[in-house]
Amino acid sequence: MTKTLGISFSAILLIVACGLLSLTNKSFPPIQKNGPVQNVSGLKVSIERGKKVYAEQCLSCHQVDALGVSGMTPPLVKTKWVLGDKTTLVQIVLKGLTGEIEIDGDTFHNVMAPHSELTDQQIADVLTYVRNSFGNKARAISAAEVKVIRAKTK
Ligand code: HEC
Repeated sequence: MTKTLGISFSAILLIVACGLLSLTNKSFPPIQKNGPVQNVSGLKVSIERGKKVYAEQCLSCHQVDALGVSGMTPPLVKTKWVLGDKTTLVQIVLKGLTGEIEIDGDTFHNVMAPHSELTDQQIADVLTYVRNSFGNKARAISAAEVKVIRAKTK
């Protein structure tokens, strides 16, 4: 136990020392604020935050695996809304959804309440999370995009 602690403590010391070194060492390439590396970590952070929003705002209906409940709540896996047009998707969160929809032969005729009380950032994060989880792969949505869509949504 003490030995493992000793090792991890030295590891931390080493990491801290490297960090300090990289701060002083001028030969390190400058960190590009808007470079691809930053964008990847920005995506990760958004997905992390979105996961929490999903757990609080969407999970109770759409379920932990996003597969929904047959005939009750539609899945959020590879549907045309989840992977499709950002405006329509953001508007579903802002305004909710009613009326009959069909996904892979399963029909839903239910009501999703509006979630317009969520901030632009929360909506961007939760949709970025959904679009990059559960087997989905689609571009991230930013808070700025949600802001524009909210402004033109009645
Ligand atoms: C009270 C339950 C409930 C909650 C909470 C809820 N939804 Fe829904 N959602 C539904 C229902 C029901 C529908 C289908 C409505 C219909 O039949 O027209 C739906 C439809 C959708 C659709 C379009 C259909 C599809 O499956 O692609 C999306 C996208 C969606 N919801 C995303 C979300 C997101 C994101 C959240 C969290 C911010 C959320 N929903 C919260 C019940 C809910």
